[in-house]
Amino acid sequence: MRNILILASGSGSNAAALVEYVKTKMPGTRIAVGCNRTPEKAGVYAKMEKLKVDTHYLPSPGMDFSAMRNFLANSDVGFDLILLAGYMRILPDDIVEKHNIINIHPSILPFVYKGSENAYKDALDNGDLKTGCTVHRVTPDVDGGQILAQIGFEIPDKVLADYDLDTLKAIGLAHEHALYPLVMRNLLQNNRKDFSINMSTVQFIAGQLLKSRGLNIVMKNYQTIIPSTDKENPSVFKSWNAKVR
Ligand code: GRF
Repeated sequence: MRNILILASGSGSNAAALVEYVKTKMPGTRIAVGCNRTPEKAGVYAKMEKLKVDTHYLPSPGMDFSAMRNFLANSDVGFDLILLAGYMRILPDDIVEKHNIINIHPSILPFVYKGSENAYKDALDNGDLKTGCTVHRVTPDVDGGQILAQIGFEIPDKVLADYDLDTLKAIGLAHEHALYPLVMRNLLQNNRKDFSINMSTVQFIAGQLLKSRGLNIVMKNYQTIIPSTDKENPSVFKSWNAKVR
């Protein structure tokens, strides 16, 4: 039996993608969900209700994480993995150091928008031609932990032309929803430290999700994983994101 905790603060679409994946593909995994905001302010409660999963209210006013600490200490299970899914709080070091925590961030780390709360908007505002999402380990260095998997893609012309942030977010989220569950499965089932994600699978799933969400956008020119060893060499991102037009 595996136990996971998903922490979210907002709409909870990644949380829902993770829960749906667990329910269909990883039977025997127990899920708990926590949110630092009230149901009026966070869509994750409604999404979880539909999926028949309870959401625990774990407020963290200021730097007071006692609700979270109590929840972690009193839960009858130890969590094998904690997944941050749009959790908009920086967890204190003691919690981070004690648990196995991963996060999904809507940019190509470590090159751009580390720590940003709205990285797809940053990408549009800066006229980037490419963006993507990264799953990484959570360490005290915010968005700076080991990169586990990432996918990059070209921002379609349609989005650039219309300057449509909602469309870009929908595209980005489809990729997040395709990628994050696969990383979770790798970490939990195979207990692998190193693993590879088949990017064509991610692209295929993201494409299906886009279609099912009524977005007729054909994604092209995907980039495969940028090795985290390139951290010292931002020129890799610069050339990857070169404004070719
Ligand atoms: C996602 O873009 C995620 O990468 C970022 O916050 C957003 C959360 O969206 N960390 P949702 O609440 O999962 O819909």
